[in-house]
Amino acid sequence: MRELTFYHWLVVAWMVVAAATFFALFFISAPYGRFTRGGWGPRLNSRIGWILMELPALLAFVILFALGDHHAAPAGIVLLVFWLAHYVHRSLIFPFRIHSARPSITVSVVAMGICFNVGNGYLNARWLYTLGPALSTSWFLDPRFIVGTILFWGGYALNQHSDKVLIGLRKPGENGYKIPMGGGYRFISCPNYVGEIVEWGGWALACWSLGGLAFFVWTVANLAPRAYKTHLWYRSRFPDYPPERKAIIPFVI
Ligand SMILES: NC(=O)c1ccc[n+]([C@@H]2O[C@H](COP(=O)([O-])OP(=O)(O)OC[C@H]3O[C@@H](n4cnc5c(N)ncnc54)[C@H](OP(=O)(O)O)[C@@H]3O)[C@@H](O)[C@H]2O)c1
Repeated sequence: MRELTFYHWLVVAWMVVAAATFFALFFISAPYGRFTRGGWGPRLNSRIGWILMELPALLAFVILFALGDHHAAPAGIVLLVFWLAHYVHRSLIFPFRIHSARPSITVSVVAMGICFNVGNGYLNARWLYTLGPALSTSWFLDPRFIVGTILFWGGYALNQHSDKVLIGLRKPGENGYKIPMGGGYRFISCPNYVGEIVEWGGWALACWSLGGLAFFVWTVANLAPRAYKTHLWYRSRFPDYPPERKAIIPFVI
């Protein structure tokens, strides 16, 4: 099979699994963090889990960039910087910022995360640097790149700020949960997830690739149900939870 054919079939498979995951996650929450529970096998410290899970996305992308035919294309290099900004933080900085005193991520979640991140790194980097067109400087003036870039960095900022608020709720050694306040939390329960969704929506536009679209669809499938369930969890756990706060879309849902 030619690689391009394989690539297109992989995108189709990615989308189908994402659609199934979206519906499944309304009934079964991924067993990590506040939704960790028995019956899902051995657990790891979440710091180690995040590093193991996210580092493959960074490595796969950089290796395929280095081996790619278009690695000197200027817009491709800028998109590499976008990816690095997210994944260097997620795999090597975020795990050391969280207060993680208990084993709260299951090995099964980490294993699924590794598989996803290797496949996702391939779908995105292989298109940008080999299978797709080389992105020259003219791509910088394309409205898809401009709007995508604004969304990517806007989502990145919201995600970073919202995670910072959550991480700041605990003192070192603490495990409990508190009500987050300020920033995006004035309007919704999970601005960190919404920031991440906007970020990868921007990425899909800026890359204009099926791999980018598949990543965006997966991010929605993964995080929208979790945001909704997290919202219900906050409401059931905290009687004084702000009643006007929505789950995902301010003033709507
Ligand atoms: N692209 C994707 O598909 C994808 C998938 C998953 C995650 N992510 C991103 O990865 C990041 C982390 O995700 P996550 O699901 O772990 O987020 P999360 O459940 O909001 O937790 C983030 C950190 O804050 C702590 N925390 C959460 N709520 C808290 C509260 N009310 N009080 C005190 N501490 C609290 C958590 O501790 P505990 O671990 O003890 O709960 C964890 O250390 C987010 O930026 C998310 O967008 C992306």
